[in-house]
Amino acid sequence: MRARRVLNKSLEDIRAGILKAKQTDEDLHLDKLIEAAAYPAESRPAASQAAANLIGEIRSSGNLGRMDAVLAEYGLRTDEGIALLRLAEALIRVPDAATADALIADKIAHADWAKHKDNSNSAFVNILTRLLMSVAWCLRGRAGGLFGRAINVLSTPIIRFGSRRAIRLLAERFVLGRTIRQALSKSAGMERRGYQYSFDMLGEEALTAADAEKFFTDYRTAIRELAPKCTAPDFRDNHGISIKLSALHPRYEFTKRERVIEELGRRVLRLARMAKEANIGIDIDAEEADRLELSLDVIEAVMRDPGLEGWDGFGIVVQAYGKAAPRVLDFLHALASELDRKIKVRLVKGAYWDSEIKRAQVEGLSDFPVYTRKSATDVSYLCCARKLLTMTDRIYPQFAGHNAHTVASILELADEDAELEFQRIHGMGEALHDEIKRRKNARCRIYAPVGKHRELLPYLARRMLENGANSSFVNQIADFSNDPEDISRDPFDLLEDARKRNVQAISPPSAIFGNDRVNSKGWDLRNPGQLQEIEESRAPFRTSSWTSGPKIAATAASSAPRVRISSPSNPEDIVGEVEEASGESIEAAIAAA
Ligand code: FAD
Ligand code: 2OP
Repeated sequence: MRARRVLNKSLEDIRAGILKAKQTDEDLHLDKLIEAAAYPAESRPAASQAAANLIGEIRSSGNLGRMDAVLAEYGLRTDEGIALLRLAEALIRVPDAATADALIADKIAHADWAKHKDNSNSAFVNILTRLLMSVAWCLRGRAGGLFGRAINVLSTPIIRFGSRRAIRLLAERFVLGRTIRQALSKSAGMERRGYQYSFDMLGEEALTAADAEKFFTDYRTAIRELAPKCTAPDFRDNHGISIKLSALHPRYEFTKRERVIEELGRRVLRLARMAKEANIGIDIDAEEADRLELSLDVIEAVMRDPGLEGWDGFGIVVQAYGKAAPRVLDFLHALASELDRKIKVRLVKGAYWDSEIKRAQVEGLSDFPVYTRKSATDVSYLCCARKLLTMTDRIYPQFAGHNAHTVASILELADEDAELEFQRIHGMGEALHDEIKRRKNARCRIYAPVGKHRELLPYLARRMLENGANSSFVNQIADFSNDPEDISRDPFDLLEDARKRNVQAISPPSAIFGNDRVNSKGWDLRNPGQLQEIEESRAPFRTSSWTSGPKIAATAASSAPRVRISSPSNPEDIVGEVEEASGESIEAAIAAA
């Protein structure tokens, strides 16, 4: 695989637009987006009404989804929800048992689990609550003294077992199987009901070459095991797989661009060729915004390989919360047109919102790469959906999510015979998708993680963060005191209201210290535009040769040799010479003083 930039002017221009979009003011950006999308205003009231009806039906089905029930009981508005999230997040990183025990004690002992006792309609959630209550009870009973210490020794394994069991129970709800074989056998029931799957072989952020190799092998095994089951002539009627690029290379970083395109590209290409052979589709998951550029480089290089010619099964995920989303759609459409084939695009809202906000603030970036209002993301999703529906000559749209309003809007927007599919996450949005199937008989696919529960923790933390928030659809539908009409209010109206009231929920990166001081300005070293700026400022000095030596108020004959100084990052680059202070120059300086 070659790390090449393709000399196609229009693609280059679109890529430049993607970079610029990340730093554009949110409101200016939204104005342009809304104008360009020309979203049909007349369909908006109908979509809200249809969504309210859907919400009523989902609630009365009593099937909110297994994970939805957990996320609703332990939302982030509760201390216990936050304790669970912190526990899951921290366990991802805890290397040893002693630290894990201290952490568990800290997170579980002080929360009031009893107030959730038998609160939920879901038996699973109630069992989880009782388990956590028991662990907290053991922790609180810990005592000093000889007898107390003996009890503590006895209770430690119970606490460790109980708390890890709780996180494991939670994690297992999201995982379809520990192996692809297990997942395939568990998928049979939904398959009979007309659902396809996209299997996500768990693993991300490979830190070592061995990790990346292991995840790569998992994907290959998955495709091999899937192949005999994928007998439908149209790959869209078969299962597929979802791939995270960060799982496949330990240095998936912009500064390693050439290497990443070459090495990671080669791996993705091998998987894509296997998938093509097996007649299954793949989707490249979207990850952090600072990896967008690099992911597009890899995707473009892979798609250009002649081995994939004529294959329409390559898919890319686009995050609507990203300001760059419409430009990314333009890029993918232009690339597919140039290659004279179709691709798949899965439109999502985006799962890394909290970390995007935090990173931009910590690094003092000029702006956020994502929207800061929930309604802005919803509006962006709908505008991008509309755009996608006009690109079906080259793009097969896949709409992913669990929000009844978003789904109802797409059903309103799309022509009756439009080729598209809806997608949901395993354990979530079950009743909504059953309803879509009943009404439209559209293709519906389930994104299902496969693997060991430890690999699931980052994914679990993301689900808890995005769905535990008060503003999330899952949280709102589970609270029956929210009227269906309120939950399904038109996001265009909500956004306009928020803008009129000038609601700014999030401090921009420069203002995180309030009136105390302006935050220091940072540079985004994963942004090619900013790297180019830095390079341009450095360019005039690239061939300069610097000399340095003692500065004294006298002339002194020095016998000190000049030492050549090389760049620490490249020993062959001699940046200049330095003359150290010698005995003569020191004496001359003292005399002059
Ligand atoms: P909603 O509750 O309507 O939306 C929640 C979302 O709104 C949040 O996730 C966030 O994106 C956005 N949001 C929340 N608060 C704010 C705010 N203050 N400002 C701006 N935006 C806000 N995500 C990825 O990132 N990459 C993937 O590859 C990916 N693949 C997926 C595949 C499938 C099949 C599915 C169903 C989801 C996938 N997701 C992926 C996750 C997806 O992004 C979330 O599930 C989705 O955001 C939840 O949207 P919703 O419409 O169901 O819920
Ligand atoms: C995630 O891993 C579903 O790809 C999405 O959070």
